[in-house]
Amino acid sequence: MKEIVPSPPPLVHNQFESVRELFSKNVVPSYGRFDLVFSHGAGSHLFDVTGKRYLDLGAGIAVCCLGHAHPAITEALVEQSRKLIHVSNLYFTEPQGRLAAELVKRIGPGKCFFANSGAEANEGLFKLARKFGHDEGRFEILTATNSFHGRTLAGIAATGQDKVKRGFEPMMPGFRHIPFNDLAAARNALSPATVAIMIEGVQGEGGITPATPEYLLGLRALCDEKKILLFMDGVQCGHYRTGKFQSFQRILEQAAPNSDFLPDGVSMAKSLGGGFPIGAFWVRAPYADLLGPGTHATTFGGTPLACAVALTVLEVIESERLDENARKLGEWFRRELERLATNYPQVVRRARGLGFMLGLELMEKEKIPKLAASDKTAAIQFVNRLHQLGVMTIPAGTQIVRLLPPLNLKPQEAGEGIARIEEIVKSLV
Ligand SMILES: Cc1ncc(COP(=O)(O)O)c(C=O)c1O
Repeated sequence: MKEIVPSPPPLVHNQFESVRELFSKNVVPSYGRFDLVFSHGAGSHLFDVTGKRYLDLGAGIAVCCLGHAHPAITEALVEQSRKLIHVSNLYFTEPQGRLAAELVKRIGPGKCFFANSGAEANEGLFKLARKFGHDEGRFEILTATNSFHGRTLAGIAATGQDKVKRGFEPMMPGFRHIPFNDLAAARNALSPATVAIMIEGVQGEGGITPATPEYLLGLRALCDEKKILLFMDGVQCGHYRTGKFQSFQRILEQAAPNSDFLPDGVSMAKSLGGGFPIGAFWVRAPYADLLGPGTHATTFGGTPLACAVALTVLEVIESERLDENARKLGEWFRRELERLATNYPQVVRRARGLGFMLGLELMEKEKIPKLAASDKTAAIQFVNRLHQLGVMTIPAGTQIVRLLPPLNLKPQEAGEGIARIEEIVKSLV
């Protein structure tokens, strides 16, 4: 793996209060933010404005797959921006064509559309489904309970969590939720208007729950039988995070090694640009030309700059075998988290996840006396305590602490992360 040389700004200022004030006066307060102000990063580490160093096991919620300030990303940005940052999608550019070919190569026969975020990639798939079912009056899309598909109006209608919908009713019609990993429930939920089913291969925001191989294969057969499109939201679990390009490839590799399973659509974003914003969806060949000229568009989708960066991210992952790193070090991590669950059952219920998409499920807050009094969830309190020890993780739900490290995390960094996590767990016994 390439060594990443940190390039911190020449001076470290403690601008914590002034930055907080800029936000409180000028930024819409739609995020519950932690009390941290970051100034720069290098590899798996972030530095706050006081100069404190943090091991970043959250990677911007599964975005910074090559860590921070990776020289190959910097080079791609500089080189491409010297040539061409943007032209309209009224014209062709080579990087977009090459990136589409690389994604098709990794998923299967089909085509790609480029957008700017995960929500927008999913929106494109929702429109594709509506177009597919339009002439038969079919428009309804089934998604899973506890799923997360984005914060746009269609995204919150699609997301199977009430908390994202509250206050924004009425919901956009055409979405219903089914219990995850329950094939019979999917079959029973179908109506004559159903046109698509969308699931995450590994639910992320819902708390790190992988789909079972039987569920994936069963949904494929059900969708074929009923002429329904099967979509996988790979925004968080895709891009080699589980050890394979898409999580369904990882989930099925042992259970169904000879299966020719392919969904009809896959959405991508987050790690695709390693931190540079880009989203995309892939659509399987039979449906690849459904969205014809004039039916779907976005100004910034697939700019030469975004695509050049995404191509570089893929090259680095492939040449440095970071898929293998996520798989092997992920297995080590998972065993260590399981060890914590065995050794400290008063605090940790279990370990969850695949590859570098891991969750530490804590016991209920009420059962951990040192966390019970606070009005904050157990997950947020745990993450806060880890911040004090210089480790970043991401809460999910009330009890799950997510680890979504950069794919190039080093074994000694993983060891440091587990040591700090164990320190917090021990302190809560
Ligand atoms: C599975 C999944 N889908 C969609 C999204 C939305 O992506 P974005 O925030 O880029 O719109 C997310 C974001 O967390 C996600 O985890």
